[in-house]
Amino acid sequence: MRQLRTLNDLSLTEIQALLSEADKDTKIPAKKMAGEPIVANLFFEPSTRTKCSFEMAEKQLGIETISFDVTHSSVLKGESLYDTAKTLEAIGCQALIIRHPETKYYQQLSGLTIPIINAGDGNGDHPTQSLLDLLTIKQEFKHFDSLHVVICGDILHSRVAHTNAKILEKLGAKVSYSGPLEWMDPDLQEDQYVTMDEAVDQADVLMLLRIQTERHDGDGGYTKETYHHQYGLTVEREKRMKANSIIMHPAPVNRDVELADPLVECDRSRIFKQMKNGVHVRKAVLTHILNLKGEKKYDHVI
Ligand code: CP
Repeated sequence: MRQLRTLNDLSLTEIQALLSEADKDTKIPAKKMAGEPIVANLFFEPSTRTKCSFEMAEKQLGIETISFDVTHSSVLKGESLYDTAKTLEAIGCQALIIRHPETKYYQQLSGLTIPIINAGDGNGDHPTQSLLDLLTIKQEFKHFDSLHVVICGDILHSRVAHTNAKILEKLGAKVSYSGPLEWMDPDLQEDQYVTMDEAVDQADVLMLLRIQTERHDGDGGYTKETYHHQYGLTVEREKRMKANSIIMHPAPVNRDVELADPLVECDRSRIFKQMKNGVHVRKAVLTHILNLKGEKKYDHVI
């Protein structure tokens, strides 16, 4: 058999031989066949940093990936997230890395036996972003206790803000918020809100967020200039920041909106360090989830 165009080209003996070969193959565990674990990266929303740094982490760990492009998949024929994930599990993927616009999408995947790694769910969580943010802060200050972190911008629609605020408070940091009042969390305590001018005076970590226009209508009526002037980190405001305070942003950054263009790469900016740390954190997560060191400790979903 040199090619396969139609079964009509094959003899019954050839067909029986193929069936027999395939049946024998079912007896070999997939893990034994592949030299390395095989995972799939499923991004139902655009991503540069998270997707590429997971891919970099996978390459550095020798993990194989199944290519999956939502725009050329059967999702376009109406296949559900569950059936897509179940299919990838059935063909032998050992973990799925998923970003999806639905908050807590992973709850509908409890019928899977392979682990799910959350690469961002709606405005719910972004756990690996949070881990890389924590690593960046820890490298800088060596501790979290009593640090004042001010998260500035579109808090209400940001999964990064939600995940970071919870874990930073648990770790002993003081978390305050700044930005347009209409985009603050309704549960926010009055004393947790600071103006941008107060934020620059007080913060050890100034964590800026972009406006999540994909999760709500419009831009709140702000122009780039009015937003930057009222709520952004301007060149003038940066000069008032404490000597050792740092600027963070999960990116993508809208230069001259949430922070002035020259500040993106200024001395106190850790924005590109955050991205570098993203690879290290995702390597650590994959190592634990896939038990690459042989000591499984973590749960089904991260
Ligand atoms: N910070 C972040 O999640 O960026 P991407 O959307 O580019 O992955």
